[in-house]
Amino acid sequence: MTAVAILGASGGIGTALCKLLAQRPDISVIHATYHESSQATAAQGASDGEASAGVRIVWSRVNATDERAVCAWVESLGTVDWLINCVGMLHNSSHGPEKSIRVFDPEHFQRSMSVNCLPTLLLGKYARNALKASQQPVFATISARVGSIEDNHLGGWYSYRASKAALNMSLKCLAIEWFRLSPKIRVAALHPGTTDSRLSKPFQQHVPKAQLFSSDKTASLLIEQIEQLHDRASGQFIAYDGEVIPW
Ligand SMILES: NC(=O)c1ccc[n+]([C@@H]2O[C@H](COP(=O)([O-])OP(=O)(O)OC[C@H]3O[C@@H](n4cnc5c(N)ncnc54)[C@H](OP(=O)(O)O)[C@@H]3O)[C@@H](O)[C@H]2O)c1
Repeated sequence: MTAVAILGASGGIGTALCKLLAQRPDISVIHATYHESSQATAAQGASDGEASAGVRIVWSRVNATDERAVCAWVESLGTVDWLINCVGMLHNSSHGPEKSIRVFDPEHFQRSMSVNCLPTLLLGKYARNALKASQQPVFATISARVGSIEDNHLGGWYSYRASKAALNMSLKCLAIEWFRLSPKIRVAALHPGTTDSRLSKPFQQHVPKAQLFSSDKTASLLIEQIEQLHDRASGQFIAYDGEVIPW
């Protein structure tokens, strides 16, 4: 039986992962977090669809940028097989992604770094004990292709791109350190593809229909990738279709 923990299970992708995993008989428990969404909304989204297969979902309110909150959540988990971080932000009520450096805002930059990168470093600091007793442990964070430096041909989106590049570097460092300490654990950055969610809503108009995934489709593709991580080396940046993205 697989025990799963999802940080950010109240977002589009996190909710869909939670919902699909809750339908599987091989999953025993899902530890799921929300932050500013209400627990009721998150829990409703996660239990939509077919009846769950008796999977226990344990909800906690966690600010993923608060070290004490992340530490306390991780210490409450016991052993987990898959730890998946779905927390992220692209825009908020006052700022969107920058088309030009002229509109760069230090506060938005710091907020982006904090939400997109810090939670993974905090999980890295506290979660190895929860993972190391598993037979096939996985720590996956949802990154974004636009965080690839080599793949950047358009520019713009300074804060989001920089924070995802920082996230990617953090995951790479962690993969190297954990390979020495707990070589069973697979660490990965996952690119979900453009997915219909709150995060992408304002930026969907130029996305061809076939390239805009429902959150259920994305979740199912990401689960496939997570299941194959033990056939790969740790510390890779992997897209929803299995492509290895250059850092
Ligand atoms: N959607 C896409 O097209 C796309 C493409 C590439 C990469 N991604 C990445 O995929 C991940 C998930 O995105 P999504 O589309 O599902 O976005 P979303 O629907 O906006 O969900 C964002 C999630 O992050 C959580 N969150 C934000 N700040 C938090 C904090 N300080 N503490 C705890 N939780 C916090 C939110 O919790 P509350 O709502 O409870 O506050 C929510 O669960 C992100 O990392 C995003 O960058 C998405």
